Amino acid sequence: MNNLAYFHPVAGGAVLAFLFYVGSLALRSRSRRRGAAALLAQHARLAPWMFVLVLVGWAGGLFSTWWLRHDLELGGSTHLRIGVGLVVALTGGWLTSRVMRNPTLRTAHPWFGIAAMLLGAAQVFFGLQITP
Ligand code: HEM
Ligand code: HEM
Repeated sequence: MNNLAYFHPVAGGAVLAFLFYVGSLALRSRSRRRGAAALLAQHARLAPWMFVLVLVGWAGGLFSTWWLRHDLELGGSTHLRIGVGLVVALTGGWLTSRVMRNPTLRTAHPWFGIAAMLLGAAQVFFGLQITP
């Protein structure tokens, strides 16, 4: 087994840690009044980068499986499908973040984010099951 096959799981773990950090900035801004605006501004600044990294991580996992993991069926894992769910949830977060003036969509935004965080936890679980 090529050691490069470990790159995606380690990089994927780092991307998910970043996702939890970015989500926690926004959630913490709700429970404390002091510094809330700064936390939310940092969340808004970092979140698009996190979204891009998750998209790159998804493509990277597929590429790594195709290139290095001939023992796995390409596109056959639950891990891949949860990755699709993660991308869909973050796309919802991104779209709602662009229309924050609409109160309903503003309320919906964190739920897309929380769904993404739950799917991220499941992604670690199912990723470890196919780790070499
Ligand atoms: C701790 C986090 C993660 C672990 C342990 C992990 C583990 C793995 C492993 C072992 C593979 C097989 C390829 C290889 O060995 O390099 C894989 C494939 C894959 N990963 Fe991850 N991964 C993680 C995070 C992510 C993230 C954040 C995404 C993006 C949403 C992602 C998307 C994919 C996809 C799409 C595949 C292809 C699967 C297939 O073709 O069936 N992974 N992952
Ligand atoms: C990790 C998951 C995420 C969680 C848990 C989350 C949560 C939140 C929460 C609780 C708020 C405050 C809403 C309010 O004030 O009513 C917020 C605001 C915001 N979020 Fe997220 N979000 C996530 C992902 C994202 C993503 C992917 C983007 C964009 C790509 C994004 C961009 C924004 C923006 C621009 C705001 C408004 C900031 C402001 O008004 O200053 N978030 N988010």
